[in-house]
Amino acid sequence: MSQFTVQDTSQIITPGLLVFREQLDENLQHMIQIAGDAARLRPHCKTHKTQQVVSLQLEHGIDKHKAATFAEAEMLAETGVKDILLAYSLVGANVPRAVKFVQQYPDIDFYVTADHRVHIETLSAAMSDAGTSIGVLLDIDTGQHRTGIVVGDEAAALYQLIHDCEGLVPGGLHVYDGHQHQESRDERKAAIDIEWDKVIAFRDGLRDKGLDVSRIVAGGTASFPVYAEKDDPSIELSPGTCVYNDGGYSSRFPDMVFPSAVRLLTRVISRPTSDRITLDLGYKAAASDPPAGHRFVFPDLPDAKEVLQNEEHLVLETSQAENFAPGDEVYAIPWHICPTSALHKQIYVVADGEVVDAWPIASRDRWLTI
Ligand SMILES: Cc1ncc(COP(=O)(O)O)c(C=O)c1O
Repeated sequence: MSQFTVQDTSQIITPGLLVFREQLDENLQHMIQIAGDAARLRPHCKTHKTQQVVSLQLEHGIDKHKAATFAEAEMLAETGVKDILLAYSLVGANVPRAVKFVQQYPDIDFYVTADHRVHIETLSAAMSDAGTSIGVLLDIDTGQHRTGIVVGDEAAALYQLIHDCEGLVPGGLHVYDGHQHQESRDERKAAIDIEWDKVIAFRDGLRDKGLDVSRIVAGGTASFPVYAEKDDPSIELSPGTCVYNDGGYSSRFPDMVFPSAVRLLTRVISRPTSDRITLDLGYKAAASDPPAGHRFVFPDLPDAKEVLQNEEHLVLETSQAENFAPGDEVYAIPWHICPTSALHKQIYVVADGEVVDAWPIASRDRWLTI
């Protein structure tokens, strides 16, 4: 029997998301081992959005955490995290939410990112009006061109502005590099190193001007091992996906040995033709950002082709279709776990082949109370 199956599935509502505790623990330990020390990590909670995973990380000595939404930041705060980076630049209604957050959690070191004077000036006005303050990291663009500013004079002027603005405390640099997804570890490292040298030169220039740049928050699953090798005490490593890991990352980065700790349990609901089975695994239960036809790995059905997916149906073509009847179960590894988690109210926890718990995916919502 595979290590990633459940003996008694009778209570599992499908499609159900499962996490295998032993593998989760191994992935956590492996992440810390790569980092060299739990204190060097600032993992992103967007992958699991779950208090119980954060508690495990705290038990392992991982005190600094990263979030992308206020709901995630609030979930972290409610779990007892005292150092939170909301790696998002705030506009609109998120600006007063930041004020509310720092007022509600005065004992938490709380940071956000910014890459434009609008973010900095708006946040400064809101914080100083409220008589409070917030840490701000300058978001650096090292080539992904999603957010951030390229290092240079304009970026230095923005960092100076953060320093000069009332209610803001300069917290360092944020360097997320989700474009560095080269399959070859050597090519990935070479590309990262070119950008890193520029970031370090920029950081040193700011320090020469007397500005405090106490941290550089860098990397995701594919790149944090490269940053981990650098001997710079200001680096904080921010992988997200590897605690659970998914089909996409497992197949793309052969150097990253993080077996997926999650499965989707799904049931056959129909067998419409002799070579097709239909599962209760629509795109309301699994991330649909991977292209149609490539959203899962089926470890026990290696020839399965995803031929049609609707909201609550996934049709597979497989030479094994005739072996299946309605009610039979199939395990799938989602290609992209982070948006998949957000589609589930809870994750079933499996230890030693048994369901032992169900953890609420607490911050899958856009807002909790703040
Ligand atoms: C800003 C930021 N930091 C860290 C991560 C974690 O990266 P990964 O999921 O590759 O581990 C992400 C992922 O989207 C991100 O957007």
